[in-house]
Amino acid sequence: MSEAQLIDGKAYAQSLRERIGAAVTKLKADHDLTPGLAVVLVGEDPASQVYVRNKGKQTHEAGMNSWEHRMPDTASEAEVLAQVQALNDDPAVHGILVQLPLPDQIDADKVINTIDPNKDVDGFHVINSGRLATGQESLVPCTPVGCVLLAKHTLGDLSGLEAVIVGRSNIVGKPVAQLLLKENCTVTICHSRTKDLTEVCRRADLLIAAVGRPEMVKGDWVKPGACVIDVGINRIEGAEGKTRLVGDVDFASAAEVAGSITPVPGGVGPMTIACLLRNTVQAACATAGVPVPEM
Ligand code: GUN
Repeated sequence: MSEAQLIDGKAYAQSLRERIGAAVTKLKADHDLTPGLAVVLVGEDPASQVYVRNKGKQTHEAGMNSWEHRMPDTASEAEVLAQVQALNDDPAVHGILVQLPLPDQIDADKVINTIDPNKDVDGFHVINSGRLATGQESLVPCTPVGCVLLAKHTLGDLSGLEAVIVGRSNIVGKPVAQLLLKENCTVTICHSRTKDLTEVCRRADLLIAAVGRPEMVKGDWVKPGACVIDVGINRIEGAEGKTRLVGDVDFASAAEVAGSITPVPGGVGPMTIACLLRNTVQAACATAGVPVPEM
């Protein structure tokens, strides 16, 4: 029985954050430029609160400005749009992130598309998704960038590989497909209506699971030696009434077949915030008209 190589996203993200910190130091010294990220959190969703706290902490640690704007879950759409507009108009703010999900009374697409595309560090604005799809310079969604960085770190050149993505979300599935196309992969996106899902997955040299279904992808879905990137973060009932985090991949069975695999936690998760910090530096440099330092 062979065991897959573990892809250490935690270590990779830490080294990326150190490079970002060095880039920020350089921007301050050479251009008097301190990149700044504003996060808007509407409501009390516990998972969102954890993400937002971690974002703020890591933004500070990288030497950047960080602002948190909390709004009650009763906030109206007009109030959230006004908050976004104020951040668009603030020259110290280079990146704006509105934490999702938003309460039901608020149209998330409308909010996202109100963000200045040049400050849209989530890369969710239609202008940025259009730029990405047409191969133009854009801000790119953070989790997909994290997936591709880990895949390239593990496999090197991805050119010509069969990449299969399970999940077609706007946040992960679709943008990661665009990025892998840019890396010259042959890309297949699977979803709930895909026929012979197992067979399609078994073709993959690079298998990306981003469906939000705990441990759905089993070992016999994996081609021997494949690289498996697990985007899922699902909290399930564990032993003795405790909960535990699992991915969208059944790690134990997949690790017996794969050549390399990301763990959950400690795989893709830590990459998301690191890529958000990177996007904020890129947005700040573009707005200030200065070259982006090496990161
Ligand atoms: N909620 C879960 N993931 C994300 C993300 O990447 N960006 C935002 N804004 N909200 C999220």
